[in-house]
Amino acid sequence: MSMREKIEEAAARYPDQRSAIMPALLIAQQEHGHLPGPVLEEVADILGVERIWVYELATFYTLFHTVPVGMFHLELCDNVSCMLCGSEALLKHLEEVLGIEKGSTTPDGLFTLSTVECLGACEMAPVMQVGDDYHGNLDVGRLDALLARLRAEAGQAPGDDIAAAAPPGE
Ligand code: FES
Repeated sequence: MSMREKIEEAAARYPDQRSAIMPALLIAQQEHGHLPGPVLEEVADILGVERIWVYELATFYTLFHTVPVGMFHLELCDNVSCMLCGSEALLKHLEEVLGIEKGSTTPDGLFTLSTVECLGACEMAPVMQVGDDYHGNLDVGRLDALLARLRAEAGQAPGDDIAAAAPPGE
């Protein structure tokens, strides 16, 4: 099924096409990996809604990415509960071990590091979302173990030349 067909199928469940923008963006992001301008315009055209409405949603929610992200998007919560439980130190650690600052992607395309607002899982603060998974009660040791697991998942051993990893979207 093409992206257009999937979006039309999802949109048919909504009486107002503006309400279908969120599910349509999710479908488009699954198809393209991220949501550049031409994709946002295509979504707006398929739904027959104002392009600005689509752009507003795509740029408001951290769920959507208008620029490419790494194979693993590390979204560390830095709201109050997580901050009180040490998220600042975890962010510093991630920046050190990955060699990047928040908001950027490792040169191999493996990890993108972001901070996000409350993930709604304060009971297991500090929390980080990676793709669809939540990782809670994090400390430096758990974070390192998680990174090792993700590298292994990508077929990369610790210390490997990270340039060997597949670029995002492949
Ligand atoms: S403050 Fe981090 S999950 Fe709520």
